[in-house]
Amino acid sequence: MDKIIVHGGRSLSGTVKISGSKNSALPILAATLLTREPCIIHSVPDLSDIHYMLQILSHLGAQVERASGTVTIQADKVSTVAPYEIVRKMRASVCVLGPLLGRHKEARVSLPGGCVIGDRPIDLHLKGFRALNAACRVEAGDVKVFADELRGATVDLEGRQGPTVLGTGNVMMAATLAEGVTVIEGAAAEPEVVDLANFLGKMGAKIEGAGTRRITIEGVKELHGAEHSVIPDRIEAGTFLVAAALAGREVTLRRVNAEHLNAVTNAISDAGFRLHIQRDSITVFGNGSSLPVHLITEPYPGFPTDMQAQMCALLSRANGESSVTETVFPQRFMHVSELKRMGADIALEGATARINGVARLSGAPVMASDLRASAALVLAGLVADGTTEVNRVYHIDRGYESIDEKLMGLGAEIERVKNQL
Ligand code: EPU
Repeated sequence: MDKIIVHGGRSLSGTVKISGSKNSALPILAATLLTREPCIIHSVPDLSDIHYMLQILSHLGAQVERASGTVTIQADKVSTVAPYEIVRKMRASVCVLGPLLGRHKEARVSLPGGCVIGDRPIDLHLKGFRALNAACRVEAGDVKVFADELRGATVDLEGRQGPTVLGTGNVMMAATLAEGVTVIEGAAAEPEVVDLANFLGKMGAKIEGAGTRRITIEGVKELHGAEHSVIPDRIEAGTFLVAAALAGREVTLRRVNAEHLNAVTNAISDAGFRLHIQRDSITVFGNGSSLPVHLITEPYPGFPTDMQAQMCALLSRANGESSVTETVFPQRFMHVSELKRMGADIALEGATARINGVARLSGAPVMASDLRASAALVLAGLVADGTTEVNRVYHIDRGYESIDEKLMGLGAEIERVKNQL
């Protein structure tokens, strides 16, 4: 397994280009199953989660071609069964259920297990499919959904932990080919849901309200091929904003959608950093230390759970006591014990991390079993004294395109050591 070695203490400056969004690209690639015609998707990031999704689509029978950031997919004839060996590597494989159900009125996909950030149920996805007149059963570890006919309906997808991003996408995809009108109440309003709805619209779907808590879908008989560019990754952008705040002099992010980052730029500005924000670029001026901040993660447009770990790294060095409360995945604190090994002073009280800023962090061998937690450790390593070895880098490679090269481009001193056992 690869590891990343970060030599702390270099200051970052320059420009970094943000890649296409992982969490937009995954359901958009799955949505190509809704038509037999070719679809062309641009700005698809080169990440292991994307490779898994393309493998699943190929396994289902789609023709997949990839040339740098552009993927062409033609799902002329597809099977409706995605087995365990192929879907177990990535929880987001569950988003092939909606398009397969929509187009073929049946799908059988191995159930995703829990993961380190929490239980990750799919009850709300199934609630939506049932509302559309599908039967859902769990058999031998697989979830099987089928219907004689999909019929539009009104369904509330708000769960105890708020709305569901992939659940909203899944039900929206199935509903595009249902008979009649579907209304999703309590829908997720994340930019990734809007991007998916825009792509489906280009395929001929009739969708209104994406980006609000109520989405209306008028079913059509069939969808056609379409071409689309995935939106910039707001979480990769947020991660580089934190890197720049922690270790930067002046760092500019290009190819961002600044509107999608309001909650994050507000938090970084509250932490005392100056930002110059334009529609598609953001410059951060680092100033060495940050002010304490009190943050609560929430569904969009609130502060994103996917930026919580990185902010904990930033606030570990703040001048005072901060708090970070996680409401979306209340157990998502794998980074805390590792940051403490680097000298951070953090106490966990339920779903709240109380962070007492320290003047110095020190490099250490660390590892985390979650993508964003691992990224937070790389960020902490940028300002730690000495050397930080971040193990199990495959977690980072799931969601960050060449994070080591991009940070090195800004002046960080980082090595990737290949194939550690
Ligand atoms: N939930 C349910 N039932 C469901 C689905 C979700 O109770 O059927 C709960 C979850 O357990 C959680 C909350 O609802 O407490 C929100 O989960 P959601 O369904 O929105 O998460 P997701 O769609 O599975 C996506 C992203 C995650 C991101 C979350 C929240 C993708 C591929 N994944 O997951 O991204 O944290 O939305 O914004 O889009 C990451 O990129 O690091 C990542 C984990």
